[in-house]
Amino acid sequence: MKVLVIGGGGREHALCLALSADPGVTELHCAPGNAGIAALATLHPVNATDPTAVADLADALDADLVVIGPEGPLVAGAADAVRLRGIACFGPSAAAAVLEGSKAFAKEVMAYAEVPTAMARVCDDLDEVAAALDAFGPPYVVKDDGLAAGKGVVVTEDREAALAHAKACSGRVVIEEFLDGPEVSVFALTDGQTVRALLPAQDFKRVGDGDAGPNTGGMGAYCPLPWAPADLLEQVTARVLEPTIAEMRRRGTPFAGLLYAGLAMTSRGMRVIEFNARFGDPETQVVLALLRNPLGALLEAAAIGQLDKVEPLNWREGSAVTVVVAAPNYPGPPVTGGAIGGLDEANAAPGVQVIHAGTALDGAGAVVSSGGRVLCVTATGADLAEARSRVYTGVAAVTLDGSHHRTDIALAAERGEVIIPGAS
Ligand code: AMP
Ligand code: GLY
Repeated sequence: MKVLVIGGGGREHALCLALSADPGVTELHCAPGNAGIAALATLHPVNATDPTAVADLADALDADLVVIGPEGPLVAGAADAVRLRGIACFGPSAAAAVLEGSKAFAKEVMAYAEVPTAMARVCDDLDEVAAALDAFGPPYVVKDDGLAAGKGVVVTEDREAALAHAKACSGRVVIEEFLDGPEVSVFALTDGQTVRALLPAQDFKRVGDGDAGPNTGGMGAYCPLPWAPADLLEQVTARVLEPTIAEMRRRGTPFAGLLYAGLAMTSRGMRVIEFNARFGDPETQVVLALLRNPLGALLEAAAIGQLDKVEPLNWREGSAVTVVVAAPNYPGPPVTGGAIGGLDEANAAPGVQVIHAGTALDGAGAVVSSGGRVLCVTATGADLAEARSRVYTGVAAVTLDGSHHRTDIALAAERGEVIIPGAS
């Protein structure tokens, strides 16, 4: 099977690593890719948010399967364009990707499907925002309705800051009740009918240790979650994933691809924070590190409506941890073009795999930074303690001037300090 992956971040490097390990994948292409993916796949330039350009590339390569990584191309209709050419595509239609593209739409679907989520008000002007803020009270949760690369949400005790964010949003604003409790990312493969949930992971959204500073796209992740209830995946499947998939089908816009449920484990039970229409980044790096099934066969089955026919998911023992090495000034406009060293040394450390996120090759063939999140140093181990210790050995080996990373990824979980409020 000839596979084309669209995207060029850490998630796509992780997807390419898993796809290249699948004996059924005989040829791997990626567009636009990055310096790490270049070692596994043939890279092609593409304007990924131009559906015709994506479909033309898939056609020219005579691809058997296209896997679309980021939300931008999905919301723009890249999966539709590829399927119109008769090529199998892993990724939802533009109509189904609205589940991620509009928070207000996601709320509506959840209301119909009776999926537990935060109470929310969709506001069209600042007076409505002010009234909603006062109705819910602090901490205030203010969300841009549309796509904002993980930066559209502000959670604050400061009413002025909440109003200021609402003012800065591009259009409609969603104000929500604050959800307490640890967050969980659950990814599910679906063909629009059958749902297969992957192991749960936890992401670290804030830039600094101890969850200090602004939100980012994600600074690290680990999988699985030793503190999660044993029936978490069963609960999420029955109460969140299946009803949502059924509601999307009922609306005539079936969702096939990867449904990502971002959940809060609150004192009043599980609540959906958000849906995404694609694999999470950097959680994919740790989830796929533990998956044993050949990934190409799974994604193809989801793409062609045959997910019920694939064998059950099968997982490696142990844990995986990933730590993002970010460029200077990230999550602000990052300083790029910095020389990256120590990659071979990091990759040689036991259990460590350096996944590239924002990297490129310069004119001389050296690896340089090209984005905010530069590398996702990833490690597996017998347990979280071993995976953590290995991942930070890898991080220490990498050099990039002025880079920063969190030192506490998976630390609370390793120490048994992650608590679901109200749980005994
Ligand atoms: P989102 O883009 O919806 O995933 O939100 C980004 C982050 O903001 C989430 O991962 C949470 O950490 C936080 N967040 C979003 N909604 C809420 C909420 N209702 N209560 C508390 N935190 C939230
Ligand atoms: N790690 C969060 C996301 O992919 O949206």
